[in-house]
Amino acid sequence: SRQTRHDFSKESLRHETSPRSGVDVLTAAGCEITQWDSDDRVPKQELIKNIAGKDGLFCLLTDRIDRKVLDAAGPQLKVIGTMSGGYDHIDTGECKKRGIPIGYTPDVLTNATAELTVALLLATSRRLKEGMNAVVDGKWGTWSPLWLCGQGLDGATVGVVGLGRIGLAVAKRLQPFGVKQFLYTGNSPKEGAKEIGANFVDFDTLVKESDFVLGCCALTDKNKGLFNADVFKKMKKTAIFINTSRGGLVVQEDLYDALKSGEILAAGLDVTTPEPLPTDSPLLGLENCVVIPHIGSANMKTRCAMSELTARNILAVFNGVPMPCPLLV
Ligand code: DGY
Repeated sequence: SRQTRHDFSKESLRHETSPRSGVDVLTAAGCEITQWDSDDRVPKQELIKNIAGKDGLFCLLTDRIDRKVLDAAGPQLKVIGTMSGGYDHIDTGECKKRGIPIGYTPDVLTNATAELTVALLLATSRRLKEGMNAVVDGKWGTWSPLWLCGQGLDGATVGVVGLGRIGLAVAKRLQPFGVKQFLYTGNSPKEGAKEIGANFVDFDTLVKESDFVLGCCALTDKNKGLFNADVFKKMKKTAIFINTSRGGLVVQEDLYDALKSGEILAAGLDVTTPEPLPTDSPLLGLENCVVIPHIGSANMKTRCAMSELTARNILAVFNGVPMPCPLLV
């Protein structure tokens, strides 16, 4: 039998009749599926219990796939397919050691995530949260010249930390807003930067010179807590920080202090630590912090594509052919 999981609750499955969804693909291929059929995160014990003896694992970014899970699976585990572009939830080193290939879904979610990043940036820079709250709270007084004035993109310098697929797609979408220049940083210059005339700079230059600082890089052991008190201090007082990558990039207490003390102007976060962010998080009490619940790739077309691609990655390994989207082979 082969273990698979997918993320659609019964409720959403009712709407999700497309034969392209991952479960349909696996079922059609004759796989026997053991599935955690809930929107709640699968409890670790449940995963450990059910993965025993399975050939493949279809997992989500909320499933921590570590040595314990791999041990519980047993040596017959042939492949892990994660329905995500990020893979910080998987112990890739351990999979490599054991020769377990991993498939993931980066390309199909680029457009949706880039679109959401732009939405979050605009919501934050144009102070939509404050505006909406003011309307609901009866604080909408007479039209006034300076009330709720935000920061525009016209003439701005936008710094992208990690000009990968998503970073580049975000920059391309921001270009028509009249951005003056794009800066980017990362391990090495990127070919795609030419398309938007972006300049490769060191991290310090980027955070000092950008009006908008966008976290678009994958989370690794090296960049954990990259955005900390020192970095926020270097940013412009008018800087806006956006993170749609992983919450682990940010030292959240430091971000809170920077926002509270006016070291930076505002922040927009689609990702936090932990997720869900507890409702008593001090970040939620700040007018200049917009937090949304990790919905970067959340449109139906994208999620179906991610689900289907995950299934096809798994099947490819079962069938002894190259995965359409391998992370580790
Ligand atoms: C991913 O796939 O890693 C994204 O964070 C989901 O939107």
